[in-house]
Amino acid sequence: MTRALEDRYGRVATDLRVSLTDRCNLRCSYCMPAEGLDWLPDETVLSDDEVVRLVRIAVERLGVREVRFTGGEPLVRRGLVDIVRRTHELGVETSLTTNALGLSRTAQALADAGLDRINVSLDTIRPETFLEITRRDRFDDVVAGLEAAQAAGLGPIKINAVLLRGVNDTEAPELLRWCLDRGYELRFIEQMPLDAQHGWSREAMVTADEIFERLESAFVLTPASEPRGSAPAELFMVDGGPGTVGVIASVTRPFCGDCDRVRLTADGQVRNCLFARQESDLRLAMRSGASDEELADRWVVAMAGKLPGHGIDDPTFLQPDRPMSAIGG
Ligand code: GTP
Ligand code: 5AD
Ligand code: SF4
Repeated sequence: MTRALEDRYGRVATDLRVSLTDRCNLRCSYCMPAEGLDWLPDETVLSDDEVVRLVRIAVERLGVREVRFTGGEPLVRRGLVDIVRRTHELGVETSLTTNALGLSRTAQALADAGLDRINVSLDTIRPETFLEITRRDRFDDVVAGLEAAQAAGLGPIKINAVLLRGVNDTEAPELLRWCLDRGYELRFIEQMPLDAQHGWSREAMVTADEIFERLESAFVLTPASEPRGSAPAELFMVDGGPGTVGVIASVTRPFCGDCDRVRLTADGQVRNCLFARQESDLRLAMRSGASDEELADRWVVAMAGKLPGHGIDDPTFLQPDRPMSAIGG
């Protein structure tokens, strides 16, 4: 029997985001410190079979229709291709959010395993700025990964970019031109208070309004006609189309009222919101012998407690204990 992952505000989660590891091979300054973080102990990270079991429960019993794999960096997870294949066999749409390092070697295998779509994080097309932001000199690897993904048919490819004031914010138009020329759909993301260093500040964040201002100095943007639904990105046609650009304005234009997401962390915790302050432990329940039905019950209860919004504007707002890199975005 299928039940819905419905919260008290009538929102139904059908989009599951699964973090496969909290580790990453880049060190983006807005995400984590140069020395990295205290990674999850190996024994707490779900095995491939455990991940697939929970995904199957979500699909078969809880109405999940789309599964996105995230990290940290999901390509560093050894079992990724197999997990994608087994998820694809459940009959749901599968997608991946990645930094694309090493993607040139695995794109074809991922496509063959049934991966439908890929979103790649890339904040700059200048190698020296890439090094400054990510602290790694790997810009060429990302480009090679993107080309391999396109050749493997993993499209349409979306690019996620975070703008940082004084670092890459003036680059917005050239990044858009580069993406349009290659058929990638670029989305600019407002920085959210989810960095491990707790260094986010509203003043430093490049807002959607600023992003529009920068883009409109070089392009004419018109709202795209397709309905947005529960997508985080507001889409715009560039110079009349067909190319588009998206803006994910989580902070200044929150879209929580239409949220259809639920998250599973690499150590088996259900998070009903990116900003949730409470999690529900499916790993412990699973390893203590819980049945599929019992795990589904727990999941339903975890969803019911979802708050109406992220609360960033509340005076009492507290950043969640887990940083973005351990939630998966
Ligand atoms: P598509 O289905 O391809 O549109 O994917 P997506 O944009 O939902 O996923 P992606 O992993 O590419 O995320 C892009 C950015 O949107 C990241 O910075 C995410 O953290 C942010 N994002 C994704 N889902 C949510 C959400 O539910 N709430 C908020 N506030 N931000 C989100
Ligand atoms: N706010 C917004 N987006 C972020 N990302 C990482 N940290 C943040 C943050 N604090 C982006 C990455 C990647 C996506 C998964 O989330 O750049 O594109
Ligand atoms: Fe959904 Fe939470 Fe994101 Fe809002 S912040 S859109 S409620 S996951």
